[in-house]
Amino acid sequence: MSENFYQQTTSVPVTAFDVSLRPPAFSEFIGQEKVKERLLLMLEAAKRRGDVLDHVLLSGPPGLGKTTLANLIARASGTQLHTTSGPQIEKAGDLAGILTNIQKGDILFIDEIHRLHPAIEEYLYPAMEDFRLDIIIDSGPSARSIQINLPRFTLVGATTRSGMLTAPLRSRFGLVNRLDYYSHEELARIIERSAGLLDVPIDPSGAMEVASRARGTPRVANALLRWVRDYSQVRGSGAINGVIADAALAMIEIDSQGLDEMDKRLLEVMIYKFGGGPVGLNSLAVAVGEDPATVEEVHEPFLIMQGFLMRTPRGRIALPSAYQKIGAPAPTPTANNPQQDLF
Ligand SMILES: Nc1ncnc2c1ncn2[C@@H]1O[C@H](COP(=O)(O)OP(=O)(O)OP(=O)(O)O)[C@@H](O)[C@H]1O
Ligand SMILES: [Mg+2]
Repeated sequence: MSENFYQQTTSVPVTAFDVSLRPPAFSEFIGQEKVKERLLLMLEAAKRRGDVLDHVLLSGPPGLGKTTLANLIARASGTQLHTTSGPQIEKAGDLAGILTNIQKGDILFIDEIHRLHPAIEEYLYPAMEDFRLDIIIDSGPSARSIQINLPRFTLVGATTRSGMLTAPLRSRFGLVNRLDYYSHEELARIIERSAGLLDVPIDPSGAMEVASRARGTPRVANALLRWVRDYSQVRGSGAINGVIADAALAMIEIDSQGLDEMDKRLLEVMIYKFGGGPVGLNSLAVAVGEDPATVEEVHEPFLIMQGFLMRTPRGRIALPSAYQKIGAPAPTPTANNPQQDLF
């Protein structure tokens, strides 16, 4: 059951619930203070110059607010947002269709920009730099290149895998922002705001209980809140406090640190099946029956952040706290054990 929550943390699909809780203004966007400050400064500078905003890249794990920020940038600059995603742009013509339909100053949001086809990326370079598209039409002897001048626009790119972005693409962004996991306090504020919108009474202990189990991720926080609300409606008074939240989250087996069944299964498999590693991503994903991308983009970053796992050039290894978490005895250090220094 708890795996449902993680389906919601992958890039698609975004639920209606997500959209209704999305902050409509920067003032309601909680946390990510540095990113917000930089974006507001850029917006202000562009406004004073009467210029178009520079291209912005937003990177970070799923559900931290990339799409939300793209929406806020468009609102704050009073321009229109056009949304697409890397895999959706299959041909140069698709890109031309999008770019020739935008107005000066508009925001083009490309989600999952690391999944853009390399050939499409080539077309994007002059579009980003010189607001020009060079398109080859026809093929063979009649092939010819035509140039289309574009209105000045702002590209906002989002990626969960900034490492997969090519250097030429990355260098064409004026500002590169990495979103970090949220603190428990920030998540508690987000939960209180969402509860208000959902008309669910929640006290500070309830908000903190949900926040501390939300993996530093607003989307997970909102998903857990929805579950706790349902639980309280049926088993409680409809209001949420620490005791109700704890009981609700225990029922879906989300532990005190926010680890779910899949996280624990990953740690168990690493330790019992692969001797603590090093183990490659694909072997790990097959062993737990999960899609490698979900393991890599959703589960691993959190397990790494919490100090359960480490990525090494030879593969993933389990750290001492992983052994503690699943109640396994720490391995005896041996000369061949790559983790010997860690215990
Ligand atoms: N700073 C925030 N304050 C309040 N709510 C937030 C904040 N950031 C995100 N949210 C909530 O979390 C949900 C998920 O955010 P969003 O869709 O922007 O994430 P994302 O980074 O685009 O994720 P993905 O990589 O999966 O596309 C939003 O609908 C919004 O309700
Ligand atoms: Mg998104």
